[in-house]
Amino acid sequence: MHLGIGFNQLNPLILEPMKDQYRFISSTYQALTSLVFGQKLKRANAMHFSKIPNKAVLIIGGGDGSNFKPIEAELEGEYWELSPSMLSKAIKNLRQSNLSFHLGHFNSLSEFDLIFLPFVLDTMGDQEMLKFLEKVKKNVRSDGLLILSDFFFPSTYYQKMITWMMIRFFQLFASHSRGDLPDLERLLSKAGFCLMEEKKWEGGWIRSQIWRLN
Ligand SMILES: C[S@@+](CC[C@H](N)C(=O)[O-])C[C@H]1O[C@@H](n2cnc3c(N)ncnc32)[C@H](O)[C@@H]1O
Repeated sequence: MHLGIGFNQLNPLILEPMKDQYRFISSTYQALTSLVFGQKLKRANAMHFSKIPNKAVLIIGGGDGSNFKPIEAELEGEYWELSPSMLSKAIKNLRQSNLSFHLGHFNSLSEFDLIFLPFVLDTMGDQEMLKFLEKVKKNVRSDGLLILSDFFFPSTYYQKMITWMMIRFFQLFASHSRGDLPDLERLLSKAGFCLMEEKKWEGGWIRSQIWRLN
């Protein structure tokens, strides 16, 4: 385990520690998601763990890292988090891993076989996501894979209601700017990735997908 401390990369001249948007919810985040979704989000995150052994892995927005605990000994690569409170929990949860931990907007110079984006893209606006994916493209090997787990458009009244509540909750307690769900497939295709495989839960509301570079 190694530590890399980053600062706000948006403006390198202003060396201020990053605002911790998840400070108030980092301790209860896992309990809350389990209460609302049971084990479905964990299963979506873990769907493609079998691909991890002996691969260089980049995890962006992994939160407190607890989802990756079952496979921590196999993890080798980099872990990037924007939230200091989430990152400090991840460092403890994944202490058996061989990851280096970094605080801040992801900005790596290395190339990886697998890039995990677990429920992180839906926290970004469309333009921010396209810029983020342009950066990610530079870090994925030509035969590398992007492994995404996230929310897609809800179909039932119940799903629409939970989606609305979840978005308002994150706007209120984690200062998310986004007020809707992104059209992930359109944005990933626009960024130059193509979908290879997917597993759906709840009629496609929750999905785990594998993408590769076109
Ligand atoms: C909704 S939480 C998901 C946490 C975890 N992946 C899970 O599935 O339980 C999103 C996480 O992504 C992090 N995040 C958002 N944008 C990020 C970025 N550009 N780089 C690194 N982390 C980011 C947030 O700090 C937060 O911990």
